[in-house]
Amino acid sequence: MCGIIGYLGRKRAKEILLEGLRRLEYRGYDSAGVGTVEGDGSLAVVRCVGPLDALVEKLSGWNLAGTVGIGHTRWATHGAVTEENAHPQLSADGSILLVHNGVVENFASIAIFLAERGYRSRSETDSEVLANLIAYHCAKEPPQQGRFLDGVRRALLHVRGTYGIAVLGKDFPGEMVGARSSSPLVLGVGDREFFLASDVAGFGSRARDAVFLNDGELVHIRENNFSICTLGRELVEAALEAVEWQEALVEKNGYPHFMLKEIFEQPQALENAMRGRFSADGSSAHFGGLRMSPRELRQVDRIVFCACGSARYACLAAEYAIERFARIPVEVEYASEFRYRNAPMDRNTLVIAVSQSGETIDTLSALREAKRKGYRVLAVTNGVGSSIAREADGGIYQHAGPEIGVAGTKSFTTQLCILTMLALYLGRLRDLSFEEGAEIVQALKDLPRLAEETLRLDEAIRALAVHYASCQSMLFLGRQSLFPIALEGALKLKEVSYVHAEGYAAAEMKHGPIALISKDCPAFFLACDGPMLGKIQANVQEVRARGADTVAIACAGTCEGEPFANRVLTIPRSHPAIQPILATIPLQLFAYHMGVFRDCNVDRPRNLAKSVTVE
Ligand code: G6P
Repeated sequence: MCGIIGYLGRKRAKEILLEGLRRLEYRGYDSAGVGTVEGDGSLAVVRCVGPLDALVEKLSGWNLAGTVGIGHTRWATHGAVTEENAHPQLSADGSILLVHNGVVENFASIAIFLAERGYRSRSETDSEVLANLIAYHCAKEPPQQGRFLDGVRRALLHVRGTYGIAVLGKDFPGEMVGARSSSPLVLGVGDREFFLASDVAGFGSRARDAVFLNDGELVHIRENNFSICTLGRELVEAALEAVEWQEALVEKNGYPHFMLKEIFEQPQALENAMRGRFSADGSSAHFGGLRMSPRELRQVDRIVFCACGSARYACLAAEYAIERFARIPVEVEYASEFRYRNAPMDRNTLVIAVSQSGETIDTLSALREAKRKGYRVLAVTNGVGSSIAREADGGIYQHAGPEIGVAGTKSFTTQLCILTMLALYLGRLRDLSFEEGAEIVQALKDLPRLAEETLRLDEAIRALAVHYASCQSMLFLGRQSLFPIALEGALKLKEVSYVHAEGYAAAEMKHGPIALISKDCPAFFLACDGPMLGKIQANVQEVRARGADTVAIACAGTCEGEPFANRVLTIPRSHPAIQPILATIPLQLFAYHMGVFRDCNVDRPRNLAKSVTVE
């Protein structure tokens, strides 16, 4: 959601900004723009609605030579998707150019204050109000060194809400100021050049080091150096981290779409997620970054997961595994609900925030709320150095590698994998036997190979998608730990093919969704091996009896003879602990092929954002 890129160096900014915006496209956007400081000191702004290609086309008519600039992809919050509302936003007096990610909650009262002083807004955005507020404060500052920084700082003291910003000033041609509060911003440091971006992808290997700004910090970039201070003017020592960025990971490498590439990367991603994390005796897992001793973990008597979207579904699957292996009661909360619900919790409750990006504002806020109340919070995230990773008391990185497709695929299965390992670890600290632990470890070790085998269903699933491409509605049904996978299957289909879909607990279907059943509403059943198999096969019959087409995902060797569903997709037979992961793969492939056949932009579905940084 909203991508920020800033450049200050000796090269022409325009190309670097466009490249950065391309790399941030995956975050989701509906309009884009760039602005530069030109040689004559003027501020140039070019913006337009729609994809980046439209911006590139428009820019071809502009001769921008400036070496300092900012760019933005906007995901509309305040104000419609129009050129006027796109960023960069120029202040009313033409002195300040700003790109903003976040929401200024008190923008209406600031706008009234500013209008009385001659700073009137032309757009409907809260961001223009912020540009005006900065212009107002910069104009008030006495002409001295640090005036630009002080103007921005003073303005931000009046802001309630969230922001990641990059700011340029007409009167400060060799300077750039960035600041953050709850919306991510990272400084990239290269060879006498600097970058500001919403995430490292914005500059990638162009920078040598990165500095992740903390909330309430501002960075002041000049031609040869930079400094960081707080809103209270205290200098902060920059924590430089080497940028480890492999460009190949963010290229399609011959695949037509990132989503397909990332689905096929899952065997490797799962391998990476597990690497070095099994105990020497082969019966448990261990994690380097939990920062909790076995003794402390044994004292946990309740786990509350906070997450959004697919990450929440991964937690729902983990609920079954943790309760089964470790016998610890688990609750799974929508992060957005948890943060305002003030739910009573026991002292020995452990909160776990799960987030692919590590930047989802609701999950971050839930984490902060839990910490404020004194609970220990762990994080499971793919976002190395992300806000959630840094603010949690400890955690586990997914190591899935960058995920560009907006619809999470390898991020979801690696979350399932990590959470299963966590369940195993917690179980082995309690009642789970050595034998059971060893069986689960073996199953996890087999997982990359079995995922590879499952991917061979691709052609069959493509054919299935041809068959169902014109469907308007679908049901996804599963039981126990496969119920959350049904939810994920439905979510994937909605996201990338815009087909209405619902995920349901298979038996619960009889309490409502069965009314939807007709020949035009096929149903997918997750009918893997285990004690529930007979029950779910009965559910399939209930649907078939009402004339709907059924597709079953079943384990090899469990459905010989007459197929119990109209179509059966066979995945390898496996331990129940890893079935949710394997069963996810055919559903991802199905959503992908449906999206492609229906001519949807599977990598960047309409209206969606990869990293949801507003509430
Ligand atoms: C957005 C994405 C989803 C993702 C959710 C949570 O809605 O489109 O794919 O599951 O955010 O994101 P997180 O980064 O916290 O896992």
